[in-house]
Amino acid sequence: FDLPTQPSVATLDFSALRERVASCTACGLCEKRTQTVFGVGDEQADWMIIGEAPGENEDRLGEPFVGQAGKLLDNMLRAVMLNRTQNVYIANVIKCRPPGNRNPQPDEIARCEPYLKRQVALVRPKLILALGRFAAQALLKSDASISSLRGRVHQYEGVPVIVSYHPAYLLRSLPEKSKAWADLCLAQATFLKAAS
Ligand code: URA
Repeated sequence: FDLPTQPSVATLDFSALRERVASCTACGLCEKRTQTVFGVGDEQADWMIIGEAPGENEDRLGEPFVGQAGKLLDNMLRAVMLNRTQNVYIANVIKCRPPGNRNPQPDEIARCEPYLKRQVALVRPKLILALGRFAAQALLKSDASISSLRGRVHQYEGVPVIVSYHPAYLLRSLPEKSKAWADLCLAQATFLKAAS
């Protein structure tokens, strides 16, 4: 007899996708997580913000960017008149916390990728802001540095992508904040162009 097969991730709606992620055991991160961190915000947002992976606070609360880096992200969004519940959807490349906040491994990124791809397909943002090396490299299938990827418009699944520094990095490297500000300005200009 045939075993029941699960429908492909690429066919799921938002709530089915959220459930699929919540019960995911595709990589070893599932063993140590408190819970998965799916995403937050407006599911029809024009802007999608993509970070790296949940940290300790996110793992505990189930929402992306709720710690110190998240506060800086909220301030950055406010600077371009956005906030995390209106016209923005925030998700990570990896939905489970890597133990001790170590870097995500290539196989973990690969196993989680269909979820992010489906989130982008469902939200259909007009702009993606990729924060940090892991988000940028995963979306753009590149191993280039942030400094070489920022400052121009890339594409992911037909959506314009702007790359910037991760807010956790900006908290440690304040002089880079002016570059992040330039990235936000480029993101806004790109969005306005895409929306016009
Ligand atoms: N850093 C990230 O990349 N994502 C989060 O959700 C929190 C911190």
